Amino acid sequence: MALAFSLRKDQARARTVVLEATRVAEAAGSIIDLDSVVKTYSSGGVEVQALRGVSLQVQRGETVAIMGASGCGKTTLLNCMSGLDVIDAGTVSIAGTDLATLNDRQKTSYRAQNMGFIFQTYNLLPVLSAVENVELPLVVSGVNAGDARRKAIAALERVGLADKADSRPAQLSGGQRQRVTIARSLVNNPAIIWADEPTGALDSKTADDVMTLMETLNRDNHQTFVIVTHDPGVGRRCHRTVHMSDGLIVSEERAA
Ligand SMILES: Nc1ncnc2c1ncn2[C@@H]1O[C@H](COP(=O)(O)OP(=O)(O)OP(=O)(O)O)[C@@H](O)[C@H]1O
Ligand SMILES: [Mg+2]
Repeated sequence: MALAFSLRKDQARARTVVLEATRVAEAAGSIIDLDSVVKTYSSGGVEVQALRGVSLQVQRGETVAIMGASGCGKTTLLNCMSGLDVIDAGTVSIAGTDLATLNDRQKTSYRAQNMGFIFQTYNLLPVLSAVENVELPLVVSGVNAGDARRKAIAALERVGLADKADSRPAQLSGGQRQRVTIARSLVNNPAIIWADEPTGALDSKTADDVMTLMETLNRDNHQTFVIVTHDPGVGRRCHRTVHMSDGLIVSEERAA
């Protein structure tokens, strides 16, 4: 009871922060603002500078592809932008809110309300059905069960999987699982969707369908997409492509 109450209070506080921040960001035009972000990992006494001072601004409604060789820091950058990972120096502001000012619980609630994730490693829970996996961000946000279920089914319809609502992940193909992940990422109508190689494990037809779905969401809902990809075809379908090398952004190009 006490925990539920304090969670609700935290959610309300996070919502206030977000509302205030949204107004700031709308005035400024950018929804993602990174300044000189540094991230160093140390494992077994060895330090790896995964990000060596990355600055990047993304406009509301923009689609940005992040490309670069394996190990150059793309996933690290996504994790730092979404607040899943803590940075060592610099700032990450989302909709005007410096993520460093939120505690872990506020960050979790902020993510559930404002961000969607299409990560290969951000796995579906095997014991839950497709529809239960999809409604998870809504349940975390405190949406009531009936509304959560209706919205989850609508999101599954959107990705063409309404008939698989009761299937568990193990009963689905790789492409179908990826589409459940996409349904989950869009169920709370988030302002930003982070995608890490969303088409990497798919055949070219399914990859094309997934990309078309993301383009449609961007166009219809004005959602912002940051997509890590090794596929130049995905890059060409984004508004802007940012190239990374060895922990730094080295160049960028805009679609014609
Ligand atoms: N948890 C961790 N602990 C230690 N080192 C890490 C950790 N995560 C990433 N690294 C290192 O940081 C660097 C950047 O890794 P990252 O996963 O961001 O690369 P990437 O560009 O996403 O590569 P890929 O295209 O292969 O997915 C690599 O040298 C990697 O070994
Ligand atoms: Mg990666």
